[in-house]
Amino acid sequence: MNAEQNKKVILTGDRPTGQLHLGHYVGSLANRVALQDEYNQFILLADIQALTDNYENPQKVRDNAYQVLLDYLAVGIDPHKSTIFLQSQIPQIAELTVLFMNLVTLSRLKRNPTVKAEMALRGFDESVPVGFLVYPVSQAADITIFKADLVPVGEDQAPMIEQTNELVRSFNRIYGPILKETTALIPKTGGRLIGTDGKAKMSKSLGNTIFLNESSDSLAKKVKGMYTDPTHLKVEDPGKIEGNTVFTYLDIFDPDTAEVTRLKEHYMRGGLGDSIVKKRLLDVLENFIAPIRTRRAELAQNMDYIENIAREGTLKARAVASQTMLEIRRGVKIDYFD
Ligand code: TRP
Repeated sequence: MNAEQNKKVILTGDRPTGQLHLGHYVGSLANRVALQDEYNQFILLADIQALTDNYENPQKVRDNAYQVLLDYLAVGIDPHKSTIFLQSQIPQIAELTVLFMNLVTLSRLKRNPTVKAEMALRGFDESVPVGFLVYPVSQAADITIFKADLVPVGEDQAPMIEQTNELVRSFNRIYGPILKETTALIPKTGGRLIGTDGKAKMSKSLGNTIFLNESSDSLAKKVKGMYTDPTHLKVEDPGKIEGNTVFTYLDIFDPDTAEVTRLKEHYMRGGLGDSIVKKRLLDVLENFIAPIRTRRAELAQNMDYIENIAREGTLKARAVASQTMLEIRRGVKIDYFD
């Protein structure tokens, strides 16, 4: 056994529907960068899942696959340590999804709280495309075909992991001990970053994001427009910290925690203007984003290299998936000519 096989496995990924933002970083990317040495990490560009609500926009999904890959590399995911691959290029995932679909009921699918919320957001109701409703089943296949021990995600994905483990238990009970239960790795803070508008979640569809390669100009505008404490009207007024987006971000991104504590005390006491705190946040975020932006621009010069990472990662992932699929086919007694 080589060293890689001794390591525990991580599987995680993103829908390539747009560039990644600070919310993705806080929710999952930071963990991936931190864990890629210790784990055998697989990261999937979930293009098939992206199509479940973008089936009319295949070009958008196609264009974003490599944009997301660029974001991965720019934040420090190392393709020598992590295997980055395209979900659509692993047909075994689709094969396992079909087998899993026998083990889940319609009412269970409708009960998934994340899917429920997403359906409401998209106004789907009863006319929900079946592909969308079953994406958690396909996600369970993503995870289990790699026998993942750990899935680093934000808390909105916890219901997916729960459903995955239910499927694993049903599957193993019927077909033998083939698949592995998994654990969600959710950051202590929940991994949910509030949006620049103070709304619960940073999200492209809400238009409250700061992208990982946000330009300096646009970053300055976004920070300037950030939600603070609406009752803090005059500089002398005492201000609130809770729910104040600028302080929430400082807590996460400002390495100088002592200074942040001092600023908070001053703000609560009164006499500290929003513009000063925002200026500090702008500096902190610019320091965080600038190296990502630079590295991303360099990498984007050579898209052949990016494509090659996707190709090699996909070949490696496919080898693992087809190995598990052999065991699965034997368990389900469809290993006719294997
Ligand atoms: N559903 C995840 C998201 O929207 C993306 C995803 C697809 C994923 N397959 C996965 C995450 C497997 C973790 C594991 O962000």
